[in-house]
Amino acid sequence: MTLLEVKDVTVRYGQLTALRKASIGLDEGETLFVTGPNGAGKSTLLKAIAGVVSPREGEIRLDGRRISGRAPEEIARMGFSMVPEGREVFGGLTIEENLRLGVGMRADKDQAERDLEQVYAVFPMLRERRDRHAGVLSGGQQQMLVIGRALMAGPRLMAIDEPSLGLAPKVIDDVYAILLRLRDKSGLTLLIVEQSATRAMLTGGRMILMRSGEVALAGDARELARGDTLRAAYFGYGDH
Ligand SMILES: Nc1ncnc2c1ncn2[C@@H]1O[C@H](COP(=O)(O)OP(=O)(O)OP(=O)(O)O)[C@@H](O)[C@H]1O
Ligand SMILES: [Mg+2]
Repeated sequence: MTLLEVKDVTVRYGQLTALRKASIGLDEGETLFVTGPNGAGKSTLLKAIAGVVSPREGEIRLDGRRISGRAPEEIARMGFSMVPEGREVFGGLTIEENLRLGVGMRADKDQAERDLEQVYAVFPMLRERRDRHAGVLSGGQQQMLVIGRALMAGPRLMAIDEPSLGLAPKVIDDVYAILLRLRDKSGLTLLIVEQSATRAMLTGGRMILMRSGEVALAGDARELARGDTLRAAYFGYGDH
């Protein structure tokens, strides 16, 4: 079943067209990698889904319901969570306080406690450090925290913008082990902006390559990551 449908979406920042009639579809439980060079529009695609930027044209549907044009909080309530670029944590707040911020508009207090328990079950490391300030966490731990925070809203679809950036390979393995467990055990649908073809190889799923605001290539993640097509399309030569 189609969970996310992005259809012919165009986003402009002033004169600059950051997304040009971009279309993607994502089935429930599927993993989609988004790759492409700097400035290709990857983050803009995620922001358009999240409602942080407004498409000039096109429409976005989540579970059949139109989300483009709605406010970010409303889109979040409808089952979408985003982990933006840059792993922003509130360093002066504790880990638990950071997690509670992820509850957003879900006012139900009991539900929030259950969500917190679930996040701690996924990330025992966060439970152990729940009263510590988030500012003392390492980069990998902060990545876990922002993923945990995004899970607090109980999403069906989670988008993560470059989770591996600046992390050591072993730490990236740990982050992905958790993402894969969420995918396999909870059926979470994942949309991951990722520059590493190796990650796409290991994880599998589908992949799109963006270039100049367009979806230049789409296919099976392993097949694309393995072949030369991706590299050729990435750098803008070869046919695709
Ligand atoms: N707030 C903004 N105002 C103006 N231009 C912007 C803004 N955000 C992004 N852009 C421009 O839009 C284009 C797409 O940016 P975007 O951040 O979506 O690319 P990206 O693929 O995520 O790049 P990166 O790999 O560097 O993260 C770029 O040319 C960028 O400079
Ligand atoms: Mg980006």
